[in-house]
Amino acid sequence: MALGVTAVPFTYVVHVLGVVAIILVLVWNIHFRGGLAWDSDNKNLIFNLHPVLMILSLIFLGGEAIISYKSLPLKKEVKKVIHLTLHAIALALGIFGISAAFKNHNESGIANLYSLHSWLGISVISLYGIQWLYGFVIFFFPGGTPAIRRESLPWHVLFGLFVYVLAIATASLGFLEKLTFLENSGLAKYGSEALLVNFTAVITILFGAFVVLSAISDAPPAEDDYAPI
Ligand code: HEM
Repeated sequence: MALGVTAVPFTYVVHVLGVVAIILVLVWNIHFRGGLAWDSDNKNLIFNLHPVLMILSLIFLGGEAIISYKSLPLKKEVKKVIHLTLHAIALALGIFGISAAFKNHNESGIANLYSLHSWLGISVISLYGIQWLYGFVIFFFPGGTPAIRRESLPWHVLFGLFVYVLAIATASLGFLEKLTFLENSGLAKYGSEALLVNFTAVITILFGAFVVLSAISDAPPAEDDYAPI
């Protein structure tokens, strides 16, 4: 599916919203929630790594990886390496971010995988891993036959966008769940922290929307589309 409009202006919006989302999630967890730590007696600091790493990884880097074909005027082969490398970093940091949530639960005596958010989260990271492996084997190394690549490509795009939208939905549920926990423990419902968390979620959703818009719009001409005169 293609919108018939050029993707480049949408990709600028993606970069700006992505940087804003990262700044907001950092301000929330460092300024309002006390900071980030992998090892600490204050187990909340371990949890704080979770939203920060998830927004940085699957959401921001994953989004940038998806739009790399639409935002960069480079050769197709170069864009492919950028695409798979950004996704690999996103996957690794995403696994690290989920480990932080598990570590926080295990060290605080909290049950694992009891919520819809956590079920969708495990599904998203598993599907993301499967999608990356399939893409690597078919489109990069050792590479499928031309017929397999041709038939796989629309499914790769469709499934990739499905997993990405699921990641945005999962992150939104995460913001909702954490803010509900905090409000139930006394956080002011209209206080600055509550507004910041909701605003961060809205920016995350807008970011995801512009990633999808960019993905279904037209790429700029690739460097290797031009034949020498
Ligand atoms: C795509 C991004 C995300 C994924 C894949 C994801 C995945 C997960 C997973 C698998 C768990 C379960 C950990 C366990 O059971 O020990 C979890 C827990 C949690 N996550 Fe996320 N998460 C994401 C983003 C976020 C964000 C942005 C927040 C915002 C604060 C958040 C808040 C929470 C909370 C409060 C928990 C603990 C309660 C629960 O298990 O539901 N998550 N997440």
